[in-house]
Amino acid sequence: METSVALDFLGELRRTHSCGELRATADGQAVVLMGWVHRRRDHGGVIFVDLRDREGLTQVVFHEEVGAAMHRRAEEIRPEYVIAVEGRVALRGAAAVNPNLATGEIEVVVSRLWILNESHTPPFPMEDQVDVAEDVRLKYRYVDLRRPQMQRNIMLRSKISFAVREFLYSQGFLEIETPFMTRSTPEGARDYLVPSRVQPGNFYALPQSPQIFKQLLMISGFEKYFQIVRCFRDEDLRADRQPEFTQIDLEMSFPQQERVFEVVEPMVRRICQVAGFQAPERFPRITYAEAMRSYGIDKPDCRIPPMHPVDDLAPELAQGGLPLVAIHIPSSGAPSRKERDEFKAFGQERGLRVYDDAKRLDRDYPEIMGRIRERTGAGENDLLALATWAGEPTGHRPEETVYQACGQLRLYCAQKFADRHKLLDSKNFQFLWVVDFPMFEWDPEENRWNAAHHPFTSVHDEDLEKLTADPARCRAKSYDLVLNGIELGSGSIRIHRRDVQSKVFAALGFSPEEARRRFGFLLDALEYGAPPHGGIALGLDRLVMLLAGETSIRDVIPFPKTARATDLMCEAPSTVPERQLRELGIALRAPGK
Ligand code: AMO
Repeated sequence: METSVALDFLGELRRTHSCGELRATADGQAVVLMGWVHRRRDHGGVIFVDLRDREGLTQVVFHEEVGAAMHRRAEEIRPEYVIAVEGRVALRGAAAVNPNLATGEIEVVVSRLWILNESHTPPFPMEDQVDVAEDVRLKYRYVDLRRPQMQRNIMLRSKISFAVREFLYSQGFLEIETPFMTRSTPEGARDYLVPSRVQPGNFYALPQSPQIFKQLLMISGFEKYFQIVRCFRDEDLRADRQPEFTQIDLEMSFPQQERVFEVVEPMVRRICQVAGFQAPERFPRITYAEAMRSYGIDKPDCRIPPMHPVDDLAPELAQGGLPLVAIHIPSSGAPSRKERDEFKAFGQERGLRVYDDAKRLDRDYPEIMGRIRERTGAGENDLLALATWAGEPTGHRPEETVYQACGQLRLYCAQKFADRHKLLDSKNFQFLWVVDFPMFEWDPEENRWNAAHHPFTSVHDEDLEKLTADPARCRAKSYDLVLNGIELGSGSIRIHRRDVQSKVFAALGFSPEEARRRFGFLLDALEYGAPPHGGIALGLDRLVMLLAGETSIRDVIPFPKTARATDLMCEAPSTVPERQLRELGIALRAPGK
């Protein structure tokens, strides 16, 4: 029998199977497996190794009596060594069968061993749950990605991308690329800039989305475009935000909003199927106004019941003309005094007056509370609180300010009491379309209106007049797809006429010169036969995160950035040599100036 031959040398050696493949039917077969040493158990004359690759684990066995030299060599191998083994499949004895392992009925009795590479002791074990700081995981990302959880996530991501392509091709969409080195695109974040060497002092911007290019592709007659595309935004990072992230971006010519939904719903259903879940046939739709009234947020988490305005039932408890809102969290059990104080304080910090003591309200206002309980469906064992505004109305849509604060209180209570009930089950997928967003959002810092979606979004036909007369009430033909309180995607029917686009730029406070300077090429294009068009972009990272049951998109992105937008593994961003700066015509200011 041969023993180990060489380090780093495959020669003609060919892998016959993956480590997840062999079953009892392969009994007696000669095989060659390659992979990483997951675990090694030394029982003296017999050494067991769990050999791992991306498909799974197979137990391989080194018997001293098969080859003493090989067995000695097997004593040297350690976790994460890369090895190749040649041997025969054998059925395990009944007592040794591992029902938790797909290959658990067999093992491979090794006759030859090659150590292809050694490994330092990994900084953390290759297990699903590792108790290690994320910084360490990110620094050794190539090792972290070997953990089964990360392998599952990245493989799921790949399958989802494939399913998206397959589905969209079947619907007549074309995958078309758009530039990364371009001009600023207005999606509301800061741009990442790329300096030009040949034109010193000039910069490209990395796209915040391919928005303008996909519209130009419609004007060019491609009719149905999609791209699984990287976008770049310099903004404050959170668990569901990265500086570079991926969109499933699509655009269609001649669509109504429903036509876009008719593409997205089956696509998302297909994606869910790939992830092993069933999404409903049709996703519910609510308007932005309804979402604010019922959930106090434009991305409702429908796993928790809605809020109910009840000022008509208890006008004496409401603050002059502003809504009184009932918040209901089922099966939470009656909150303790301390818990009531906490959620009351949370509401007060947001400007609310909170009636936290439902029992007392029941006593003081039995009839009214009876009706409120009827409207909300709140039972004895549920949390029920009422809230209204404590001070003077604020904001351009004051009732919305109240609903928003109540919505935050609702989520706070739901999360606080989540342990007591299964409401926030991550496998309970509640999709929702939110439609008819306002066209504009007030920016109190800049003291002006901003586009709530982006400035290429169409206005509702009947609201055209309100563009300048009443911007606060002007509705857009825009829509968001929401899943469990997270915005999965956003889109709109676009403006396809130059005159309307100019009006919207004007309503946003752009002078004709500024509009021309920033978007002249789009304005020109709208005058060369632009068809009606519209589309959407879904956040691929967020979608995979939710379907993988993760709570951070970093866990579904192979090489993500930290909250400070750094890559701990490559140590980017980094300084560059003075020579490179000089070539680019760039001089650095002292920090802070
Ligand atoms: P929007 O800016 O709403 O729309 O982006 C669409 C979707 O992209 C995802 N997303 C992000 N994911 C991770 N990290 C980020 N920093 C981040 N920012 C956005 C979200 C979001 O819903 N051009 C328009 C789309 C259109 O109108 O067709 C756009 O980009 O899931």
